[in-house]
Amino acid sequence: MIALGADHGGYRLKEAVKKYLEEKNIEYIDYGCYSEESVNYAVYAQKVANDVANGKCEKGILCCGTGIGISMAANKVKGIRAAVVTNEFCAEMTRRHNDANILAMGGRVIDCETAVKLTDIFLNTPFDGGRHAERIAQIAQIENGEQLQ
Ligand code: RB5
Repeated sequence: MIALGADHGGYRLKEAVKKYLEEKNIEYIDYGCYSEESVNYAVYAQKVANDVANGKCEKGILCCGTGIGISMAANKVKGIRAAVVTNEFCAEMTRRHNDANILAMGGRVIDCETAVKLTDIFLNTPFDGGRHAERIAQIAQIENGEQLQ
């Protein structure tokens, strides 16, 4: 199950991603927004991030104008690693190295076709583990208020 969310700036990308998920028979929950009327991105970031953090959804996809604000908000939820991605290399690497669990994209930065391609890479690239697992664990330590050595 994939959790989807967007503000007005990312609405068109979210709709394109939704169409892709439907074509691939991938289940999703669409938390909105549902039009290009102006809204606040943190509302959608929180809904998607909560679902990913509590395991209801395996991954999340968030879109706003740049992908930045909505990823910042999502990353405030414990356990979330949301990555703003604008190209195929970063889509692959943020899965392989960062084990990103939310993909964030910007509707004023990339087009719908690119968003679908990045989504496809994000959903189909596994985490490499190994030395990267240790680095992910350190991110969690920071989240828990621990001092890294
Ligand atoms: C909304 O105008 C815009 O600020 C928002 O979509 C996003 O780009 C914020 O990071």
